[in-house]
Amino acid sequence: MEHDLHPVSPEFASNTLVTETQYQEQYARSLSDPEGFWSEQAKKYLHWFEDWEKVLSGGFDSLDVHWFSGGKLNVSFNCLDRHLATRAEQPAIIWEGDDPKDSKVINYRELHEQVCKFANVLKHYGVRKGDRVSIYLPMIPEAAIAMLACTRIGAVHSVVFGGFSSEALKTRIQDADCQIVITANEGIRGSKIVPLKHNVDTALKECPNVRNVIVVKRTQNQVAWNSSRDVWYHDAMSQIKTECAPAIMDAEDPLFILYTSGSTGKPKGILHGTAGYLLYAAMTHKLVFDYHDKEIYWCTADVGWITGHSYCVYGPLANGATTLLFEGVPTYPTASRFWEVIDKHKVNIFYTAPTAIRALRREGDDWVKRTSRKSLRVLGTVGEPINPEAWEWYYHIVGEARCPIADTWWQTETGGIMISALPGATPLKPGAAAWPFFGIVPMIIDDEGKPVPDGKMGKLVITQPWPGMLQTVYQNPERFVNAYFKEFPGRYLTGDQAYRDADGYYWISGRSDDVLKISGHRIGTQEVESALIRHQAVSEAAVVAIPDPIKGQSIYAFVTLKVGFHSNDDLKKELVQTVRESIGAIAIPEHIQFTEGMPKTRSGKIMRRLLRKIANNDLTDLGDLTTLADPGVVDEIIRDREIK
Ligand code: WTA
Repeated sequence: MEHDLHPVSPEFASNTLVTETQYQEQYARSLSDPEGFWSEQAKKYLHWFEDWEKVLSGGFDSLDVHWFSGGKLNVSFNCLDRHLATRAEQPAIIWEGDDPKDSKVINYRELHEQVCKFANVLKHYGVRKGDRVSIYLPMIPEAAIAMLACTRIGAVHSVVFGGFSSEALKTRIQDADCQIVITANEGIRGSKIVPLKHNVDTALKECPNVRNVIVVKRTQNQVAWNSSRDVWYHDAMSQIKTECAPAIMDAEDPLFILYTSGSTGKPKGILHGTAGYLLYAAMTHKLVFDYHDKEIYWCTADVGWITGHSYCVYGPLANGATTLLFEGVPTYPTASRFWEVIDKHKVNIFYTAPTAIRALRREGDDWVKRTSRKSLRVLGTVGEPINPEAWEWYYHIVGEARCPIADTWWQTETGGIMISALPGATPLKPGAAAWPFFGIVPMIIDDEGKPVPDGKMGKLVITQPWPGMLQTVYQNPERFVNAYFKEFPGRYLTGDQAYRDADGYYWISGRSDDVLKISGHRIGTQEVESALIRHQAVSEAAVVAIPDPIKGQSIYAFVTLKVGFHSNDDLKKELVQTVRESIGAIAIPEHIQFTEGMPKTRSGKIMRRLLRKIANNDLTDLGDLTTLADPGVVDEIIRDREIK
């Protein structure tokens, strides 16, 4: 289906931070003189205690990339202190609670004070520069406060999404060797209670190195308490001084670890550094959303994901913006919630995920049309490809054909947005992520690593370092090399498939590896398989994705049982429960098919390609089955498939 090109409106172009010509010029400059370009940006966007010696050294060939070495700065100083002279009374965070009656505003002066106090609390509990702190909080201002407080003293945070199970939390605490955990007694989402403290208690049974748990009281409900370990946040904050000098950090000091899924093994601890990350988050936030001073900006992501890190907290606050944090869900109390929040707080820029757009589109236009949304100026989307139908709905119904959409392609590893339209510069094509950001050099290659012609699908790689890129995989430099640079040396392998059209627009079609995107959440098939195998009845499990009209993808699991176990609905429920306990509700399989055997090659490898076709009921060309050890199992699997 051909969709119209949406040109930049003249009215919009006249008041934008970057016009089309400026984009072309500056993009060319960012490639021809990267050091000059990034040096100017670093001065423009950040406050430095000491200048760097070298903007960029090393490269992808030798894998020794360094950004701004020798420079000194502090992230919380950049996000708070430097704004106090001009913005002390300006809202820094507008918090909208799960219950529409619950909201509050924290200005820059107050946020600065809270962060300094909490930094002192962390110090009081023995946190030092370089120590890792685990944050397992709902979307409440304390999440941003805790993150910024870590950066104030140079501690490295590891935020774990509140929807992850105690088991997932445990492995993340252990991998990063965190000694402090910050949580809440409970969370609330869509009026449902999330037992955060209970999950922490369970996780900590196997985390002997955790000394203290700092607990925010979000609800009035009682929770189990270990008085030698647990501390109430409000108690700790009530008796602590407000002054806390920012730690002087090196440009390349670690800033945070964020776990994300890959195609093999356990989630990887993606490590981001200080200066490059902050610069890239700030600059992309400003230019991709065309952020103008005093505007109200809302990114609906949870701080447990990279989008929440870069575009709820660090990017906006570094730019002195007002960022809205939302605790709830799009459909509570009704499917008008997003649009009501936009009217209530006069939101100008709104950034969400395709899965939310599709879910709300299904509810009908009335929920949108009964609200005004006249404050809206720019829309954004992230997390998975957006289908043109959802794009058009977002554009016409939500934005009333007035607001450009930035379809932003990027990853946990990239730190910030890599490919996106710029609102005042890029004529929009529904469904295309569009143009590379400054300094970003994408390339589409075939399996041999050769560039493919425009219009042809291939693997998306990035050929030059950029400031926001991950530094490494925490405690696992080998995995860093193997996951991103081994298959095509000298290039960063994204794991996505894409093509570039004749106008230079990039169209991302999805992952080319075993990573799933379920409602925009990134999950590795192997993690789900390992979870299923934990159940005593399961002998083998193979997980594939099938398309889902709302979630983008959903999980289809093939399971073989050990001798003596029998398939039935109760067992299915137990398997679902096992996945919920090992990972979280986001990874639950939609379909479970029991099979007598798996289609395997003679060397014993499960043929996932075949299972993917069967799960998707795509039986026209199953390919060469002669290499299978036991081709007979295929008929049985086809016969019993869940989707026909
Ligand atoms: C996918 C999220 C198409 C992609 C920021 C990528 C997208 C993965 C888009 C990273 C988009 C993200 N269009 N696909 N606009 N944005 N993706 O690490 O497959 O949770 O590799 O980071 O999301 O997911 P992650």
